[in-house]
Amino acid sequence: MNLDHSAGPIMTTTTLSERADALELQQMQELNNQLVTKSLLYHLADGERTIGPGFGLGRRLLMGEDPRLPPMPEKPTLMDFFRLRFSPAHQHLLQSANLAQKNGLPDKIVLACLLHDIAVVGFIKSDHGYWGAQLIEPYVDEEVSWAIRMHQALRFFPDESVGYSYPDNYIVMFGEDYQPDPYIVADYERAKSHKWYMSARMICVNDLYSFDPEILIELDQFEDVIGRNFKQPSEGLGNDNTSASHMWRTLRRPCNAL
Ligand SMILES: [Fe+2]
Ligand SMILES: [Fe+2]
Repeated sequence: MNLDHSAGPIMTTTTLSERADALELQQMQELNNQLVTKSLLYHLADGERTIGPGFGLGRRLLMGEDPRLPPMPEKPTLMDFFRLRFSPAHQHLLQSANLAQKNGLPDKIVLACLLHDIAVVGFIKSDHGYWGAQLIEPYVDEEVSWAIRMHQALRFFPDESVGYSYPDNYIVMFGEDYQPDPYIVADYERAKSHKWYMSARMICVNDLYSFDPEILIELDQFEDVIGRNFKQPSEGLGNDNTSASHMWRTLRRPCNAL
């Protein structure tokens, strides 16, 4: 594949381009005579600016269900996605929601805790609060998606009035001199005076910053909370017609060629 037409100083020699293609071909899996191709984002995450072999191979490409992943029901629910896509990383969400329940918080906040890192465990980590909010926005109370969006910023700022300090493990993970980006600071400033500030803050308070493998929480514990507060579309997530349907479809079939 020729990437030399793209802007910027990338892949300026055919040799580099060919080498990337060869590596990609080697890494690709062949399933039912269909080649699995990957989106740019997956390659960028490996530090490579390429989309692999693209469409020029004269081969069938994977479209539809991905046989490498657990099959999903025709009308998948939120719980189906938890079990068939997010598990086992979803334990972090279950533990946070469990803590919120133990702390006697209302349903709405328990749901917010259950979904707060849905992008970390199930979609894209970078800017996870924003992605997560967008993913669930059509199906939850506006306060829930707002709180999830804003926990992205609030987690970097302490609020001693509710016992929330800057997390110790952020110092380990990001370094002592880490400063949040300006857009994070701006969202924190906006959130501070918002009527739902404390809802977003409660996500931080009930976040579990160290995963405890001794505690295993079952998703069933939250079936009622989800039933009461998540507007599950009868067509199934992804088959409905909302601003987030395409994101659920991509989660279901992440390597569709188009
Ligand atoms: Fe988070
Ligand atoms: Fe979290």
